[in-house]
Amino acid sequence: MDTMLIKSGAQLHGTVETSGAKNAALPILFSTLLAEGEHQFDNVPVLKDIESTANLLESLGCTSQRSGHTFKVQVTKLKSFEAHYDLVRKMRASILCLGPILAKYGEAVVSLPGGCAIGTRPIDLHLDAMKAMGAEIQLKDGYVLAKAKKLKGTTIFFEKTTVGGTENLLMAATLAEGTTTIENAAKEPEIVDLANYLIKMGAKISGHGTSIIKIEGVQKLSPAKHAIMADRIEAGTLLIAGAITGGDVTVTKCQPHDLDALINKMRESGFKIDIKENSMRVHPLSSWDGVDVTTAPHPLFPTDLQAQFMALMTVAKGASVVTETVFENRFMHVTELMRLGADITPKSQVAVVRGKPGGLSAAPVMATDLRASASLVLAGLVAKGETQVSRIYHLDRGYEGLESKLSKLGAKVKRAQ
Ligand code: EPZ
Repeated sequence: MDTMLIKSGAQLHGTVETSGAKNAALPILFSTLLAEGEHQFDNVPVLKDIESTANLLESLGCTSQRSGHTFKVQVTKLKSFEAHYDLVRKMRASILCLGPILAKYGEAVVSLPGGCAIGTRPIDLHLDAMKAMGAEIQLKDGYVLAKAKKLKGTTIFFEKTTVGGTENLLMAATLAEGTTTIENAAKEPEIVDLANYLIKMGAKISGHGTSIIKIEGVQKLSPAKHAIMADRIEAGTLLIAGAITGGDVTVTKCQPHDLDALINKMRESGFKIDIKENSMRVHPLSSWDGVDVTTAPHPLFPTDLQAQFMALMTVAKGASVVTETVFENRFMHVTELMRLGADITPKSQVAVVRGKPGGLSAAPVMATDLRASASLVLAGLVAKGETQVSRIYHLDRGYEGLESKLSKLGAKVKRAQ
């Protein structure tokens, strides 16, 4: 089902549950390669990217079973150390198998992930850091060939904050000889969730969630059990869905303090937002102000919510300057929002949005990447008429049943060929 039809006019009301976090589940599933035996996870979202990860683990010789949101992975001695291009090209995060395989088995062959719609997505920082730990790294025929008898602990300084780089090195360092210090480490909550699982497996880690993480290498790790944290990007997307329709929506099973930057921006725009331990509620508002936003590594405004927040700004009162500092090409949603009548002037990393309350009208638009798709669905909720979003399969990579969650809140959304 390739298209989503969204009719405008509904003010969303009610309560909606957040699913498990894609960007925590992916590194955690790859971390199972560090320890043979059966690993068990709860709150694992049903997503295409999880399926792709299971396929990659199976290609290495692992098995996995899903029952509802419980996911088990059995890891035995790998039959292959190669992550094939056909699998990696479907999901760039597959590069996160490099650190675990290299640390556990001393050799790894992983296809270069290649770029995607939002940018070239290089992995130079991952590879430089592994070389610093004593790995021999070769690039050949589109693959990374990595070898290391035993990785050596050292101090890694990331000149650029990288979530994946921090995760790959965090996993690799757990079985290295000696202590590794990662400086300028990414502080995303998903990294904390990964570290928490590694510690359950027996890893010795401190400082996770801050910019300096220390890992003391151990001989062996053992499989464990873990519940994946809530998906803060999905939670933020659902909160914006309530806001943009002038509705009254409570998002539950989430961690609002992971979203302070978004909540502060929405309050600055005029929204009343109540937060409790595991839920947050946006109250009805008939008009809100345009506010400026700049994306940056956690705890600042998440790049993964930039497209969704821009949709909210297209129907705000006044202008909003949106600055994207993390990825070089993350304005693919701009031209599609303009097709719906939004007034946006994009200039490389900055887009000026001139808000027009009630100013959007339905048109056929096309999704280009995961978060751009979400942005178009949100805009479709208030674009007069019925908006048709094609290539909606991008959404299925990162949102579990978004249309049924929105329908339960009163939205008129459905899938069509
Ligand atoms: C993770 O991607 C997330 N993906 C992304 O979410 C998220 O947008 C991103 O972090 C930033 O928060 C997963 O967790 C699976 P980075 P990642 O390494 O690790 C540059 C979504 O929508 N860089 O922090 O790839 C890179 O080009 C996805 O769920 C290098 O230059 O992001 C980018 O400009 C999209 N060299 C910046 O750093 C490197 O070796 C941040 O990238 C690595 C990264």
